[in-house]
Amino acid sequence: DTHDPTSLRTPIVAVLGHVDHGKTSLLDKIRGSAVIEGEAGAITQHIGATAVPLDIISSIAGDLVDPDDFDLPGLLFIDTPGHHSFTTLRSRGGALADIAILVVDVNDGFQPQTLEALDILKRSQTPFIVAANKIDTVPGWDPNEDTPINDTYESQSERVRQRLDESLYEIIGNLSDEGFSADLYWRVQNFQRNVGVVPVSAMTGEGVPDLLTVMMGLSQRYMKEEMEIDVSGPGVGTVLEVKEEKGFGKTVDIVLYDGTIKEDDTIVVGGQNDPIVTEVRALLQPRPLAEIRTESRFENVDEVGAAAGIKVAAPELGDAMAGAPVRVVRDRDLDDVIEEVQAE
Ligand code: GTP
Ligand code: MG
Repeated sequence: DTHDPTSLRTPIVAVLGHVDHGKTSLLDKIRGSAVIEGEAGAITQHIGATAVPLDIISSIAGDLVDPDDFDLPGLLFIDTPGHHSFTTLRSRGGALADIAILVVDVNDGFQPQTLEALDILKRSQTPFIVAANKIDTVPGWDPNEDTPINDTYESQSERVRQRLDESLYEIIGNLSDEGFSADLYWRVQNFQRNVGVVPVSAMTGEGVPDLLTVMMGLSQRYMKEEMEIDVSGPGVGTVLEVKEEKGFGKTVDIVLYDGTIKEDDTIVVGGQNDPIVTEVRALLQPRPLAEIRTESRFENVDEVGAAAGIKVAAPELGDAMAGAPVRVVRDRDLDDVIEEVQAE
């Protein structure tokens, strides 16, 4: 399961938004698994990373995404918690991302954490689209499971269409108040200049094919140069969580956003005091379409390339910190790498 160094890097997609607006449900719909049922309480406590390969994206998007049109291996989604107390986790996820989905409940509209997320995206200059979620809750809505938005919109009554339009224009107005020029995604010509709004339902899957198509298009079009950087160099990543794992002791869940990490690599990890210098004992990979946060059976891999969510088992990780940098040393000077980790 080795990484092809000539392939493009998988874009990292952060999913941000106010509590209960449907971030996890949306990913859940995409994954076709039921992570949401395994969550403690209604709140997502930690960032999880989920890799969705191109062929699966294409099968969900149907006619809208032809895998032959894309060089990207897929998308790596990072879920973030909407609850107000998780600001650091959100900004960590937002800052890591190449592109983002801002989820807004069509009925609830803009809320405090929606604004906070917009601020993170603005500061990190991350291109994003808005998923106007829960369109199935518009009174009178007649659901058409998993269909593109245009098909289901056309089949709604005049009144229902008007109600949805009103909610969508309110979101567009809110975005404009925050300094973003936005429009319904099919009217957007230049996604660098305008924010596209995609009406979706995480419950019925309506609009999800559109959402994935726009995400693939965004990554392909605007991230390509960045993705084509040599991804075979020493890995660079960020710790999302420090966790005890049966048989491995303290491990770190990381998002690798550049280069590769291999078994036996010497790595430097940001710690509570000094940077930790240690050696990778095992790389534990969640299976595709599995959620790193709930997956207990990992696949042991020799090497992983960016971008990926991966659990790293290594001695002496007890002092590692969520949010800290991780760097692979390999053929570089150890002191230089330690200095870089200290500087981050
Ligand atoms: P936090 O992680 O706590 O910030 O919330 P979240 O944004 O991940 O929201 P979550 O996916 O947990 O959804 C919150 C609630 O909204 C759940 O009860 C979902 O079933 C419901 N929900 C999410 N999306 C939709 C949708 O499109 N339609 C309907 N009807 N309900 C939805
Ligand atoms: Mg959630």
